[in-house]
Parts: sequence; C-alpha cells; structure tokens
Amino acid sequence: MPFTESQVVLRLRGIRKSYAAPVLRDVDLDIAAGQVHALIGANGAGKSTLSRIISGLASPDAGTMVLSGEAYAPRNKAGAESRGVHIVQQELNLVPTLSVAENLFLNRLPHRCGVLRRRELRDRACGALAMVGLAGTVDPDTPVSQLGVGHQQLVEIAAALSHDCRVLILDEPTAALTDPQIDLLFEHLRRLRAAGVAILYISHRMDELRRIVDHATILRDGDVVCTAPMNHLTAEEIVRQLTGKEIQRESHHCARQRGEIALQVDRLSRDGVLHDVSFEVREGEIFGIAGLVGSGRTELLRAIFGADVADRGGVHLGGAAEGVRFREPRHAVKAGLAMIPEDRRQHGLLMPQPVLSNVTLGNLRRFASWWGRIRARRERDSAQHFCRAMDVHYQGLDQRADQLSGGNQQKVVIARWLLRDSRVYLFDEPTRGIDVSAKATVYHLLNELAGQGKAVVFVSSEMRELLEICDRIGVMSAGRMTAVFRRGEWNQEKILHAALSGYSR
Ligand SMILES: Nc1ncnc2c1ncn2[C@@H]1O[C@H](COP(=O)(O)OP(=O)(O)OP(=O)(O)O)[C@@H](O)[C@H]1O
Ligand SMILES: [Mg+2]
Repeated sequence: MPFTESQVVLRLRGIRKSYAAPVLRDVDLDIAAGQVHALIGANGAGKSTLSRIISGLASPDAGTMVLSGEAYAPRNKAGAESRGVHIVQQELNLVPTLSVAENLFLNRLPHRCGVLRRRELRDRACGALAMVGLAGTVDPDTPVSQLGVGHQQLVEIAAALSHDCRVLILDEPTAALTDPQIDLLFEHLRRLRAAGVAILYISHRMDELRRIVDHATILRDGDVVCTAPMNHLTAEEIVRQLTGKEIQRESHHCARQRGEIALQVDRLSRDGVLHDVSFEVREGEIFGIAGLVGSGRTELLRAIFGADVADRGGVHLGGAAEGVRFREPRHAVKAGLAMIPEDRRQHGLLMPQPVLSNVTLGNLRRFASWWGRIRARRERDSAQHFCRAMDVHYQGLDQRADQLSGGNQQKVVIARWLLRDSRVYLFDEPTRGIDVSAKATVYHLLNELAGQGKAVVFVSSEMRELLEICDRIGVMSAGRMTAVFRRGEWNQEKILHAALSGYSR
C-alpha cells in the first residue's frame, strides 16, 4: 500500500550520524499513520541508531525531523514520549531490582501527595500484562531479575503498549519470543495500526515481515537504498538491496567423510524436562535438532554441556566406554565440548571490554609462551582471523563490544568459540538475530567445522535451514527425541509429525 502525503506522521530529512565512522548518511524517511513500516538492513547498517535518534536516545549530527506537521527534536527519551513516540529497544532495558509493576510505570507511578498507590499500580500492571498474555503468569510484584529473557522482553513491550502512542518503534522485538507470543503481539500491532498508530518495525525474519509489514525501507551502510510497499519486494530483491550483491542460491550441504563417534548421548534425563534422550554424532557430521519452542532442545544442549546437571544417563566423548554427566561447563570445555548459547548477548559478552578480549576470553592459554607470557601479536592475529571468518562489522579489535550493533555482538561470541578449537560444537540457534548474508556465513562455518572432522550439533527453529545443511536431524518433542532422520529420508511433514508426537503420550 503506498501512502499519501496527508498520512505522513513522521518525516525525516537528511539525518546524519557518525561515531568514529559515518553510520547514517543523509537518511530521508516518511512514516505514515495506520501503517507498519519496516526498517530492513544488514547487521550494522544503522537501523538501531536511526531508531534511537527518533526516540530521543541519540541526537543526529545533522538533519531535521517533523512530527505531525511540527518540528521535532527530542532531547531525550522523555521528550520523545511527551510527543507520543515510544520505543522497545533491541537490548533489554529494565531495572532488574525493581518489580515488574514498577518497571512498567517507571516514570508515571500513581501517587497521591507523593504516596505511592500500590493497589492502583498493581491493577494497572495487571492490565498491561494482559496485553502481552502474561496476566496470571507473571505477578506484578516479582523483581524483574527473576524473569527469563522472553518474559522480560514482553514486559518491555507491555510498557510501550500501555502508552498512548502516535509512533511506536519496535527494534527486533521477537528475538526471544515463542510463536504464540509473536501471534499475540501481532494482534496488538494490527489493532494499533487500525487505530492510526504509525509503527516502525525492525526484524531480520522475512516470515514476520511478510505477515505484518505494509511498507519497507532498506538501509545499506547508512544509506537508504530502497523504499517500497512490502508486497512489491521479493525476497531476492530484498537480499540484493541490502547486500548490494547478487546472491546466488547455493546449496549449503556438502557430502563429507564421517569418522568415529565423537559424542554419544545415552539416555540423558532431567526430571520433568528431558526423558531418556539418546543419539550419537560422528566426526565430520552435522546433526540437526528440530522441535517446537519448549520441546527441550535448549535444555538438551545445556544438560550435555553441564550448564544444567542431568539426573540420569550420560554422555560419552570420543568413544569412551564410561559415560559422564558434567556438573559444570568448564569440565565439559576441558573435555573438548563447546556450546554457543541461545541468548548470546545476555550470557556471552563483557560489554565495556574491547572486542579483542571478548574473542580471546577464556582462550588466553593458547597464546602464552612456555613461561606464561601472552604473545600479544599472536592473540590479535588470531582474534582478527576469526572475526573475519564471522564477517564482524567493526572498527577494530580495540572497539568496545557495547558499541557494536546487536547482530555483530552475536558474531563476536561465535568467533570466541571457534577460536577455542573444540572437538564437539553445540550451536543453539546460531542464526537468530543475524542478517541474511551472515546466515550464509554461519552455514559455511558449520560446514567448515564438519569438514575439519569436528562433530556439530545444530539447534534451529528454522526448518528450512536444518533441511539445507544437516546430515541427520533428530526431533525433540515434550522432552523426548521422538525420531531421527537421515538426509533423503526426511520431509517437513514427517518432521512436524515427530515434533508433535511426544505431546500425545
Ligand atoms: N555508541 C557507539 N559508538 C561507536 N559506534 C557505534 C555506537 N553505536 C553504534 N555504533 C556503530 O554504528 C553502526 C550501526 O549500528 P546499529 O546498531 O545502528 O546497527 P543495526 O542496523 O541496528 O544492526 P543489527 O542488525 O546488528 O542490530 C555499527 O557499525 C556500530 O558499531
Ligand atoms: Mg540493531
């Protein structure tokens, strides 16, 4: 749907922003009432920076903004909110020690003569939580630090939805959400759209963009390269615009020589979570794990790695007759396992530290001379090599990790584990939150690892990518592995059937 001049709510002209290098160059953007407008671009293209400028969290170096016909130059977040512009940021921004209710109404706590009206706060919080399907699940008095990432994300969304918005910005809101939670969010967005709110939506997931977006603007290296109604853009066109390259559809699967059994999981169980899960992965093999959200995929990897301790069963590494149950990840690492966790930004990075130490963290022994001195040159070369392999978009190894874009922070964590040189790699959703071309980089890497004779376990919610690169796929359902398929034996229907079968026992 193209929109008319009179529908434009927010108009940006010539917006420029540089940090050490230019991040946004003369960006023009019109956002219309009653439309969902997507901002699409590779990791580091400038999407979050632009949304921070619109919501008063950063100021542009040049350019003008007009909101509903009047000049708009918010000095801070409160200034933007007073004009009806609200944002859900890419990274979580709640105050962990405060309760859910206090976080929801942080700067507008109900009071009478300075005395907090607890009852009213609670009621209003329940109303806000209901909008995101959390009423009855999350108590408004719980401290936010006790919530999982998905619930924290929903609390942030609820906080934004509970305002009267004219413009609502959502920067990758669904990264930690399950499918039903996404459905509920979209229902709300449709309602807001119908009420005339202008929504700016940022996501790397094509399926989501297709479902909810009316109009799209594509950014490449801080330049607007295309703006068009969503239904005029094919997937190929989007990829071409955001990378600036013609991408050939290539097959990512490679036939490889398999070696010995590298990892054997034997009846691994955790009460109420995992039930007798057994499978094995050979050297040179990519073993995919499919399943619905909540089926126990992440829990399985955590139990193998010792992040959670299994109750029964064990894992055998490198053909060992004796099974072990790791009680701590460091024991697993010592035994040659690596795990790239799902929420890499939460569990993976030392934010104020430079990229260099984030990559070499925990690996320093590799660069030590025999008397223990760290050979700095070697450390830097090696970090650089793996950042290049992951195609990290950064200014240099000394840049602080918190200055990288969200997707590039994720790539740094993956680079760290690659540097470690393990025998078995457990990847939990490695392509979530990273752009299309970086996804191809990850596929390439998994293949390369397998080509070097490593065993790779690959959890993904995207069936397409599992089918594309795995040698075998195990399917989790309600904490059990209900089927294992070989390449050639599988199809989507069989996998889906297995993914549901555990729930009907
Ligand atoms: N505070 C900062 N200091 C220095 N550089 C920064 C800062 N904030 C952002 N940048 C740089 O600006 C560029 C754009 O970052 P931005 O976060 O806007 O990207 P993005 O499009 O949101 O990417 P992603 O998809 O990974 O979230 C990046 O190269 C990033 O390193
Ligand atoms: Mg971003």
